This record gives sequence, structure tokens and C-alpha cells, in this order.
Amino acid sequence: MPILTNALSSRVRLLVAGLVVGCIPIASAAEPVEWWQNAVVYEIYPRSFADSNGDGVGHLKGITQHLAYLQELGVDAIWITPFYPSPQVDFGYDIADYRAIDPQYGTLADFDRLVAEAKKRNIRVIMDMVLNHTSDRHPWFVESRSSRTNPKADWYMWHDGKPGGGPPNNWESIFGHSAWTFEPKRSQFYYHAFYTEQPDLNWRNPEVRSAMYDTMRFWMKRGVAGFRLDAITSLFEDPQLRDEPVARPGVNSYGDPILTRQYTDNLPECHDVLKELRRLTNEFPGRVLIGETYLPNIKELAKMYGAHKDELQLPMDTQFAYNPLSADVFRSKLRDAETQLNGGLPLFFFDNHDNPRSWTRFGDHKNDAAIARLLATLLMTPRCTALMYYGEEIGMENNDPNRIEDVRDPIGKIGWPREKGRDGERTPMQWDAGTNAGFSTARATWLPVAPGYETRNVAVETRDPGSLLNYYKALIRLRKTDPALRAGDFALIDENDKNVLAFTRRAKDGTTDLVVLNFTASPQTASFHAGGAHAATLLSSFSKSGQTVSLNSLALPGYGAFVGRVQ
Ligand code: GLC
Repeated sequence: MPILTNALSSRVRLLVAGLVVGCIPIASAAEPVEWWQNAVVYEIYPRSFADSNGDGVGHLKGITQHLAYLQELGVDAIWITPFYPSPQVDFGYDIADYRAIDPQYGTLADFDRLVAEAKKRNIRVIMDMVLNHTSDRHPWFVESRSSRTNPKADWYMWHDGKPGGGPPNNWESIFGHSAWTFEPKRSQFYYHAFYTEQPDLNWRNPEVRSAMYDTMRFWMKRGVAGFRLDAITSLFEDPQLRDEPVARPGVNSYGDPILTRQYTDNLPECHDVLKELRRLTNEFPGRVLIGETYLPNIKELAKMYGAHKDELQLPMDTQFAYNPLSADVFRSKLRDAETQLNGGLPLFFFDNHDNPRSWTRFGDHKNDAAIARLLATLLMTPRCTALMYYGEEIGMENNDPNRIEDVRDPIGKIGWPREKGRDGERTPMQWDAGTNAGFSTARATWLPVAPGYETRNVAVETRDPGSLLNYYKALIRLRKTDPALRAGDFALIDENDKNVLAFTRRAKDGTTDLVVLNFTASPQTASFHAGGAHAATLLSSFSKSGQTVSLNSLALPGYGAFVGRVQ
């Protein structure tokens, strides 16, 4: 079945002639000005990346020891999830001190060394910044909960209960059950969007804002290149405390009613804070703000950039990551990102520490290796900043606990068995085929190493020219060095094809690359009828680099991915 239409053929012909007609580029070619444009950002979950002191938990020194690996992979920046002192209820997202390092991850000196060593390798370090809440052990909260009159009394979200004693309203924690916890010392409830041990700060209090902004200055002075802003849409709640309506009948994984979050998420005041944060980071040139922005649609995502590009540079495009494997769906997501973000640069990703790994989500157990290459190509070849998660490059998959006794992430206990928690996507990095996959010499690691590590690991894949790891390396190199991929226009082509997603990247000098992705398990033939036009393979999951293919008849195996230079 020919899958590329005549409409495409005429477009390709024109591309070959150096003209673009009927295929309006929806974003124009521009060389990256800032380091983060076109960058590859690599997320590290420090507990699970590398442990060199044998306690079974990763730490900062472990990251420093593997910088050469990250450089060779081609990453421009690492985002490290929180390593501040923390009771570790939410494995670091419950911060007890914003200006120090948890001893199990190292010291400030280890941190400074990591930043300095990374800099030598042209890798920047991005911190995770949790502004929405602190740990309940943070001195601010300890003071705040102690009375209604202390100096920090208004630093958190305190409210009286309902007459008769219940919580102020029906709001639910994202992690299950009521979002309100009673504090006998104040005879009041505090609000927590997440765990009980993560009380929400009161962002309407200017003292809170300036205390947090000062901590961000502290880290920027230490050389961090920016922040990933945790749960940034959760900062404000409805001052009238209106009950959330029921979103749909039934109960969620925690057995609670399914409510909207219209009064607790993405309130307009968030944008005031985002503007302040941008002004703050602008005090330090070259800093970037990444947002954890789970939003209902592209219009809300667009707002995160700010009407005058004065908010986040890189809000995560969660519209892109969680979709069925469908050419039509991803085409429309790419189109939205190109046309609806007011020129903002999309931040695409598939994997992170909160959601099942893409290998597991998208795999069909038959074509997993090909699907992983298709996703890698889809992540690295459009006009975007690309965000990846440790282990994605070697094809790590989820290893969810089988028994509630083994669960470490509290939501997996609260929601068992419907919600097994996030342990599965946080297992130790697989470095080699040795003990604990080379992650640690400990007898037991904090989470078990996933099965299959003997063959799926950095050492084995480095040696295998056909491995996923080597595919990623080649792809990232291409993304950086190829003029069309680095800075070219993006244009979708053959937009009616249900099976194959295709687009071009075209540099200012006319150099044009064609990206073709077969989203089906069956072979497809792309017929361009483009007057004998050819493409030289730059990188493909099925044809050799340098090999010339005919655009009249490009045979794609199931889930085949192709990047070629149009000739
Ligand atoms: C973010 C983090 C997640 C954490 C939550 C609460 O969603 O990515 O891991 O549990 O915030 O801080």
C-alpha cells in the first residue's frame, strides 16, 4: 500500500527544488541563541543512578563519576531530582532544608565538585525546586504549626474546620484521601496537595515568596543553570474554599470520589509567580526554568510561556508524552506545539520518575526494540528541547513490585493494588552485567535491580553497534551537528496518512532532512513520485547511514524510523 500521498510528492518536489510551497513551515529556521534551545536534558533520580559507597542508595559522587558517560551520550544538562535534607517520605520532594544536601547524597562540597566537573564537560546542572510545599519537618512548618500567633503562623494554608469538626471542604490530596490534616495545637487544619507530610506553603504571603526566591539565588550563585519547578501549577487554592465538583462518577485508585481540581490547580495567580521567577532567574544570565506543567490542553500550556515570553522558557509538554502510538495523534500534537505555543519552544519528553517508562507503556512485547527507536527519533528530530530520563537510552523498563510488602513509594501502599506506586520506574541504573548491575556493591539496593540487566546495560550496549544506546548517541550527535535538525524549519508533510508520520526540517541554506516514522507493526511503503528524488540515510533503524534510498518507494519495516537528507 502506498502510504505517502500525491500531495506529499508535489511538496517533496518543491522541497528538492529549494522552494517550500503548499507546505508552509510553521516555525522558521533559527540558530539556537540560548544553550537550552535544541538541548538534550537528562533527568537523574539520584537515589538510583550510581552508588559508590556501598549503602545501596545512589549519591552525588556517583553522578560525578559517570559524567564522561553523559558527555559521550551528548547531554547538555542534567536535571537532578531533589537531594536536599529530607525525611524521604516522598523520596526528596519533602524538603526540610533548602540550602543543604541530605547526608545520604553527600555534602555541599560534593555538589560544588559535581557542578565544576560537569562544567568541564560542558554539562549544566539543573536543580529541582519544590515551591508548593515543604516537609512537615521543615523549621518553618514546625514553627507555623506550634500556635496561631507565631511569626510563621501564616506561612502555610491553615483553616478552621467546618462547624461540627470536619475538614474545611471536600478537597482531596493528589496522593489520596482528604487534603486537610488537623493540628491540635492550633485547632485548625492545614492543606496538603500531596502527602500529609508535605504541607502547602501560603504563596499569598510575600515573606514566603521572598524566602523561596532567596534560596533560588543561593543555588544560582553556586552555579546551577536553572530549575525544574515541581508541581508549579499547584501553588494557589481558591480563597473561598469552594468544594470541588464531582468530575465523573466512581472512585479513583485510592477509593475516593473523582473530583475536578478547578479550585486547587492552575489558578491564574500562578502566572504572577511565574513572572517573578523569570525576573529572578534573569538576574543570572543563561538560567532556564523548566516547569512541571500537567495541564488539560495546549492553550493552558501556551500561557505558561507568558504573553510576553516572560514566564517559563520550557514548560513540559505533557500533551505530547501520554498518547497512544498513533501517527495521527502525534502529528496533531506536533502541529499543536508548532502552531499554538506562540512561538515558544516545546519541551518534549516520554519518561520521568512519576510515570511508567515508555518502553513499558508503548511496547507490545514483539516490536519493543523498534518502538524504542521510533520514540527516540520522535523525541530528537522535531524542533524542541528534548528531555530524557536515566536508563531510557538503554531501554530500561518498569519493574513494578508484585507484593504490597515490597512497595517503597507510599502511594503504592495507599492505592494497592490499583496504584502500585512509582517504584517501577525508579529502579537502579543498569551499568553492567555485574553485581547489582554495577549500580552498587551493597548486599541489597534500595529498590531491586530490574530483571534482564545482564543483557540490557551500558557496558553491553556500548560494545554492540546495533544497540539502542548507540542509536541514541548517533541520533543526539546528528541533532547537534546536522544543520537542518539543529536549526531548521519544521513542517509536517503528508498529513492525511494514518500509518506514517513524516516531516521535514529545512535549514536556511535549503538543506532539507526528511523524517519518516512508521507507527504500525506492518511494513509500509512510502511512495513519493518525486521525479527520481532520493534521500541519503543520515540515521535509520533499518537502513545503513549513507545509503541512498528512493523517495518513490521508501520501504519501511514495522515501526521503522528514517532520517535522511533530501537530494
Ligand atoms: C512532583 C514530583 C513528584 C512528587 C510531587 C510532590 O509531581 O515530580 O515526584 O511526588 O511533585 O512533590
